[in-house]
Amino acid sequence: MPSLNDAPAASIPAASLPAAAAPAAPRPAVLFVCVHNAGRSQMAAGYLAALAGDRVDVFSAGSEPGDAVNPAAVAVMAEEGIDIAHAEPRHLSVDDVRQADVVITMGCGDACPIFPGKRYEDWALTDPAGQPVDVVRGVRDDIRSRVEALIEELLPSAPAEDPATATATPTSIAAELAEVTAYWTPRVVGRVNDQYIKVARLLGELVWHAHENEGEMFLVVSGQLVIQLEGEREVTLGPGEFYVVPKGVRHNPVAAEEVEIVLIETVTTAHTGDVVVAGTVPIARQLGE
Ligand code: NI
Repeated sequence: MPSLNDAPAASIPAASLPAAAAPAAPRPAVLFVCVHNAGRSQMAAGYLAALAGDRVDVFSAGSEPGDAVNPAAVAVMAEEGIDIAHAEPRHLSVDDVRQADVVITMGCGDACPIFPGKRYEDWALTDPAGQPVDVVRGVRDDIRSRVEALIEELLPSAPAEDPATATATPTSIAAELAEVTAYWTPRVVGRVNDQYIKVARLLGELVWHAHENEGEMFLVVSGQLVIQLEGEREVTLGPGEFYVVPKGVRHNPVAAEEVEIVLIETVTTAHTGDVVVAGTVPIARQLGE
């Protein structure tokens, strides 16, 4: 399949460039530490992994690890579409801290070893252990806003809508589509919050797949797209029509003729979801790297 690697990056408005498209920045490693590694640090690690994707290395540990992740923390993160059910509390090691560029503690006191040259933050968060679910939800929301602020700091070019750097240049869908040289190879052309805006040209069919945690919006620009859905259903989209495939629903886009589309999907969304086929396009290539 032809690669988009030779597509000129300059054709993407600079203000729309997600961080991952910037010249190879080192990937920061972030370590979250709390006492039991069962609640706060697991929620923070879950958010950072989900929101920053592979732009950040994320790990967590505890000074006195518990036996299992707090079920209330698992439940309130599941409400956000983030699965931490299989995370296991682990003991903080000196190597953990040595590997990390950023260490964020949450009430572990002096148990966290300090190395020179690291960036340390201490987040004053309520300990969710033994608290009712409403309180745990509040802790979760507090953690999310702190993680979002951390991402802005660590990956400063990430926000496309940063008013200080945004240029007043519109993006032409037609011009972006003209840069696409291969079918089924989405091209990231912008970003709004945690969503990528992509364009793609389609012909034939992709593959049956699902995205466990993300819905996916298809907007047809030209042609006619059939999206086959599990349960022997399908939706047919013409120019100007869109459909959101709900998260977890198996689907297979089929284009009998050439179709041009705009896709809006969360930055964590994998091209072919839970399956990997020869035509699967990793996000780095969708970003033109
Ligand atoms: Ni999909």
